[in-house]
Amino acid sequence: MAKDIEALQKEKRIFEPPAELVENSNVKKWMNEHDIKDYDELLERAKDKEWFWEDAAKELEWFAPWTKVLEWNPPHAKWFVDGKINIVHNALDRHMGTPRENKVAYIWEGELGEVRKLTYRDLYVEVNKFANALKGLGIQKGDRVTIYLPMIPELPIAMLACAKIGAIHSVVFSGFSPHAMMERTKDAEAKVVITVDGFYRRGKLISLKQNADEALRDAPSVKHIIVVKRAGNDVSNGDKDVWWHELVEGQSATAEAEVMDSEDILYILYTSGTTGKPKGIVHVHGGYAVGTYRTLKWVFDLKDEDVWWCAADIGWVTGHSYIVYAPLIAGATSVMYEGAPDYPHPDRLWSMIAKYGVTIFYTSPTAVRMFMKYGEEWPKKHDLSSLRLLGSVGEPINPEAWMWYYEYIGDKRCPIMDTWWQTETGSHMITPLPITPLKPGSTTRQFPGVEADIFDDNGKSLTEKGGHLVIKTPWPSMLRTLYKDPERYEKQYWSRFPDTYLAGDAARKDEDGYFWVQGREDDVLNVAGHRIGTAEVESALVSHPAVAEAAVIGVPHPIKGEEISAFVILRKGREPSDALKDELKRHVAEEIGPIARPASIGFVGDLPKTRSGKIMRRVIKAKAIGAPVGDISTLANPEAVEELDKAV
Ligand code: WT7
Repeated sequence: MAKDIEALQKEKRIFEPPAELVENSNVKKWMNEHDIKDYDELLERAKDKEWFWEDAAKELEWFAPWTKVLEWNPPHAKWFVDGKINIVHNALDRHMGTPRENKVAYIWEGELGEVRKLTYRDLYVEVNKFANALKGLGIQKGDRVTIYLPMIPELPIAMLACAKIGAIHSVVFSGFSPHAMMERTKDAEAKVVITVDGFYRRGKLISLKQNADEALRDAPSVKHIIVVKRAGNDVSNGDKDVWWHELVEGQSATAEAEVMDSEDILYILYTSGTTGKPKGIVHVHGGYAVGTYRTLKWVFDLKDEDVWWCAADIGWVTGHSYIVYAPLIAGATSVMYEGAPDYPHPDRLWSMIAKYGVTIFYTSPTAVRMFMKYGEEWPKKHDLSSLRLLGSVGEPINPEAWMWYYEYIGDKRCPIMDTWWQTETGSHMITPLPITPLKPGSTTRQFPGVEADIFDDNGKSLTEKGGHLVIKTPWPSMLRTLYKDPERYEKQYWSRFPDTYLAGDAARKDEDGYFWVQGREDDVLNVAGHRIGTAEVESALVSHPAVAEAAVIGVPHPIKGEEISAFVILRKGREPSDALKDELKRHVAEEIGPIARPASIGFVGDLPKTRSGKIMRRVIKAKAIGAPVGDISTLANPEAVEELDKAV
């Protein structure tokens, strides 16, 4: 029976990277300098992680050097011990007086089409002014600041200003509900909240200030609410409120970067765990700067002339690491977009890639599948020949979506960097490099200096069989703790296997050492004693020509433990029917094996998703088994829940 499960991994295609890309890549250049012949040797040599990461750290500017690269008292790591640094000095100040000073840091486009370009100098000045303004409000090193802003330039400016003066930012995704924002602000005991009057999403005005008001009624730590004027909508004016533009007026355009210890906290970012209470992931100045910078330079081969577009929201870790910190440290030009990816038309992103000459584009499998559903006629309208590399993150990408992305966006020229990492890891962990032969659907191999593995329940390393994805040694950009909850940090990540980080994902490593992430372990089903990743069944469904998107859950079954229930969005022009249900069940049985055959299939027009595009299987499951759906405040599309009612 195990054979049936393994049979689903029949993706055998290998895509060699273009020779020219390999030869000119940052990583290859580094290998040559270090007399490293090939990929295996690179990974082998980088197992000397102190050597590897110290080399990376030397590319940054430190106020004072470290005395020791790593101090590891499991589960607590200190990197670049006694080193003094400020990540913002590296992201901005360092570029002043160099040719980068007048280079564009951000090309920002609003949903309505307005454009703002900020050079490194512009950004430096704005950050300094706002940093001084924060100081003027009494904010000091170590104080927490909640930032509740959409994708407008003031978001990175606010983050950088906090970091520059040593304050700790906690960005709350602007799509989160007032309740979620209140919870996070209270947990962080933030003194200041930064928000906006309103912004646009799919042409609709969202009055964020109203949310903030609602959320902050009961947040005693908050002394000031700074409001960016973006949409010009009416907002109520409480006595804590102050306009951003009034606050920065007359502020000095220079500000000293606070000298931070390498291990001083840079930010808190809340993420959901297995319990209802969000976890405050803590990242620090030193190691985080080193990890994010080196991964961006190597994985995406970022060079001075590139135009980089990470099409995530800064409200998530992807945006923190790869829209704000790493690209600025690298002196890159980034595109930043405020609105919905398919507004006003499904080719919004493609038109922007052509308009700005984007060379590297990084998005999520959900987005790729959505565009796949719209059809390739949309990207075909645009000249995407500036692209040279593509990226994917956030969930397993099924081979069909991978192939579509490769063919229609990358013109079969651009390798796809499928990067596995987490809010907790801070930067890419298992990911291709430009030198890596690719297998569609696999995140390939560990990043140099990272030791990933697959463990069985007893902590024994597995090949070919699925198991727990673990990281066996510390890395610079790892989370340091959970804010105000060190016990949960130890228990959640380090208690399952001794001195080993448990990622919470199920994955498999093949005979070439390539990793195939199946999904969160809580999304892995157990049908008649067999482990089946929901992602695997979904991938099988999506490989059927009638299917655009699928979500799979396990529903309790008296004999098998669980059986598989699937919800499917059909492609344009396909009609639901019982015959099609049977066909899809058969198709999955064929793709994976009879044990993975869904017991039921429901057709829906939409699936419940978080704002970051993750399918909320918990909600589907509740509906399917007739249980209460619980908190759905983070849903992007509550209408999808009604759809489910009909399908169930
Ligand atoms: C979880 C982390 C890291 C930025 C966005 C998500 C899943 C992430 C991949 C990938 C398969 C992936 C994992 C992981 N995930 N990237 N390339 N292939 N799965 O951050 O919200 O902390 O989620 O996302 O399940 O544990 P996050």
